[in-house]
Order: sequence, then C-alpha cells, then structure tokens
Amino acid sequence: MSENARHPFLSGLSKHRGAHPTVLVIFGASGDLTKRKLIPALYNLGVDNLLPSDFKFIGFGRKPIPNDEFRSFAKESTSNFSRRKLNSDVWNRIESNTEYLSGNYDDLEAYRKLHDRIHEIEKEHDRQFQLLFYISTPPSVFEPIITNLGVSKLSRHGQSSGLKPKVVIEKPFGKDLESARELNQIIRNQFDEDQVYRIDHYLGKETVQDLLVQRFANSIFEPIWNREYVKCVQITVAEQLGVGTRAGYYDQSGALRDMIQNHTMQLLSLTAMEPPVSLAPESIRDEKVKVLKAIQPLELRRDAGDAVRAHYREGLIEGERVPGYKEEDNVPPGSTTETYAALRLFINNWRWKGVPFYLRSGKRMAHRVSEIAIQFKRPPGILFSEGNRFDLSHNVMVIRVQPDEGVTLLLNSKIPGLETRTQPVKMHFNYSTTYGSNTPEAYERLILDAMVGDSTLFIRGDETEESWRIITPVLDYWKESRNQGLETYSAGSWGPLAAERLLWDLKDEWRRPSA
Ligand code: BG6
Repeated sequence: MSENARHPFLSGLSKHRGAHPTVLVIFGASGDLTKRKLIPALYNLGVDNLLPSDFKFIGFGRKPIPNDEFRSFAKESTSNFSRRKLNSDVWNRIESNTEYLSGNYDDLEAYRKLHDRIHEIEKEHDRQFQLLFYISTPPSVFEPIITNLGVSKLSRHGQSSGLKPKVVIEKPFGKDLESARELNQIIRNQFDEDQVYRIDHYLGKETVQDLLVQRFANSIFEPIWNREYVKCVQITVAEQLGVGTRAGYYDQSGALRDMIQNHTMQLLSLTAMEPPVSLAPESIRDEKVKVLKAIQPLELRRDAGDAVRAHYREGLIEGERVPGYKEEDNVPPGSTTETYAALRLFINNWRWKGVPFYLRSGKRMAHRVSEIAIQFKRPPGILFSEGNRFDLSHNVMVIRVQPDEGVTLLLNSKIPGLETRTQPVKMHFNYSTTYGSNTPEAYERLILDAMVGDSTLFIRGDETEESWRIITPVLDYWKESRNQGLETYSAGSWGPLAAERLLWDLKDEWRRPSA
C-alpha cells in the first residue's frame, strides 16, 4: 500500500473504525480542558461509532474522587459542552468503561497502581490494549508524569507485541527555546518520537485541515502562491474574550507565547510550506519545519522593529463596558504582560523572499475572528487606473478559520450601468451552507488520530524548537525593555496604533474582518 493510500485524508474515517483496543488515561482528569473539550470529544466519537470496540477511559488526578462521582462529572461535562445532545445508549456504553484513579504525579507508586489496573483490564478481556496517555495538566508536572511513565515501564507496555504506547502532550510546550529543548529531552529519555503527539488544537480545526486541500487539491492557486503574485499575507487570531479567570496562567504567558508561538505559527507554516511529496505525516511535517527554518530573525527596535506588543485598556465589547487588563482579577498592577502581539516576518526562501507575513493575535479585540488572508499584487495600472473613477482593490483570498468558516475571494467587478465603474465584490464559500454546521470539534479529530497513530496534525519535536527559535529573542527583548514599548489599546478595538505602523513601511494595511 502506498503511504498516501494509508492516510485518513484519502482513506476516510473507515480506517479509524479499526482502532486497536485502547486504554485512554487522561492526566488532569478533573481539569477544565478535560471537562469542556476532552470528555465531550470522546462522547462524540462514541456517537460516530469511532471508538474501538474495546475501550477504557481512566481519569487520573491528584484529588481522590470516587468512580461514581467521576462518572457523574463526565456525564455533566458531556451534557453541558458536547456539540450533540446526550444519547443515553451511547453515554451508558462510555460510562460503563470509565473509571478514576487518584495519585500524586510525582509518586511512582501511583503509576505502579495504574499499571496493575491495566494488567487487570487486559486479563478481564483476555487481550492486549494499546495505551494512550493524555497529559492535560499544568506544565509544572509534565516532567514527573513523563519520567514516571518511563520508570514504571508504562511507556513500553505492550511494545513487544508491536503496540507502542502513545503520549499526547498539551500546550504550553515550554516557555522559550531552552525549556522546550529540555522538555523534548525529558520526553526522549522515555519515549521514541513516533510515540509522541504534541497538541496544537488549531491543527484539528476543519478549516485548517482544509487549507491543505485548498492549496493542493486545486490547480489554480499554486501558480500564484509566491512572491511574483502575493503582496503580503496576514494571519489574524482575534478573540473578544478577555483574560477571564485565567490570569494566574496568562500573566506568566502573554499573547506571544499563548497564541503566536503555536497557533499562528502553525497557520503560517501550512500556508507557506512547499507541496509535500506525499500526505504521509513526516512529509508534511518536514515541509513545515523547512518553512520555519527559513524565517529570518526579527529586527527588534523601539521604533519600526518587527514586533509590537500591547495590553488592553477599559473599553466596550458589544456595547458593554469591560475593565482593562490591569484591572482584571489576579493581574498584578505593574504587569507588563502583552494581551496583543503582532509580528512582521520574512521567509527567506525561493517562493517567499521579500513577501511580508504579518501575524497578530489579541484578546478583547473588536470581534472573534481567525483568518488567513493572502493579498495579491494589483494588476498593472494601465486600463483601469484613472483617478477615483475606479475603486480597484487588491485581490484577496481569505480563509476564514472561525467563526463562519469559509473561503472568500475578493475580486474587482464592473458596477452595472452605462458608465464603467468598478467595485470590489466577494465570491464566497461558506462551510455551514454547504455542509451543515455540526462539524467535528478539533479534539475529536485529534484524539482519534492519536488513537490510530496518525501524527500529521501534531507537532514534531524539531518543529516546536524552530518556532521557539523565532519567538524567544522577542521575549528576551521585551523582558529587557520592561514597559518600554508596551502599547495599550481599547478593549473592543483592533489593537494599538503601533501595529498599524508595522504595515505602513511596505504600504500595507491590516484588514478589518467583519464579525
Ligand atoms: C488557547 C489559549 O490555546 O486557545 C487561549 O490558551 C485561547 O488563551 C484559546 O483563548 C483560543 O482557542 P479557540 O479554539 O477558541 O480559538
């Protein structure tokens, strides 16, 4: 079988129905992500009949919780957060295979208990299970969990019969290049790279996967997808929400670490990479790494540098007054953490030399919108260029990641009438109109892929390090500069003026995506 024929993009979900009997262990089982995303994702996989016929879910956490209580928590999470209504048949099947184990993450004995329980399950079923460990805890305990999985030999369980355990690791993957390297080393001490699934949930979003299809399943884009035709690329990941109750984490992180290093850099690499030789995970990931390697170091200066940061002031969101970042609960009054970051990047390769890639992400922005906009150069101003009579705009292809997922092409068109006048118009493809709105959530796709061993939509060790290589000097520069150069913007706006200036040098302007 060719590599392509084995890939789920081509073979469809039928392949997933063959997932091997699995024990899924979630570390951080009573946490917010488990509640809001992971358990509802398991339920929806159950609805689609995509869980293996023999499937066990063990929640692992520090708090002692009786099995029944954990099952009720899981049921409540599903009713509250699942995209589909609770079906009792499906739920009962999952619930009867759900249990909870408590232990300290740094206590080896707890992992021995877990190992014993897995042996028991295998005995009861008289077959070997593959193990999938999902680490959804705060990063401070990544290390003891990974090390203890190794020391207790859980990381090698079943390997002799060809069933390598897999480990899924949530973000944040390190806080800079050095810590990401250290974490990679800790992982490598216990697991082989093909056992490791580093999560970036943006890769599980339908539209992000569609980016590969748009680019490589259509012949009209590839010839113009380069420096000859593209004026600039703008990647926006804007949120309307503020920092909410997460200030404890967020103030240590900031927009650059929380969103740019991972989500927007992933969008950039999928947009800019060369066509992979096949759809095999390593072919795709090789190309993504190559793009990251070609990104030039940023120029960091107080004025007209390649990076801008800011945090929000008080302002209006949907007509409601909201507090500024420094007035939010648990944010230290002297905080210099950015809630908005924008970068100008150049990819020093044959395809993209000289084309600016602008990345921005912020909280408390005007709208919640994530999009990739490829802005093309104008045609030569020979025919339609006389003064204001022609309102010629750049052609833009906008891949709307969320919400209102779709692809839009901005074209210039003649306004009907006896006089020749032009106006930009939109050609629009909307996912929900074409396919309906109840598409799988990112975590459904990602859990399923990890279960069947498809790492395409996960980040490889070298990939995360390359991304940190670009971001870390900016973090260091900002740390040294303290609040020098830290701008502010009103909540509900599109960010600080300095971010506008980032584009003026090259006569570009940020798009103002509508809600
Ligand atoms: C997470 C960040 O990775 O992504 C959050 O930690 C952010 O701060 C979230 O709110 C956004 O994800 P989505 O899927 O809602 O765009």
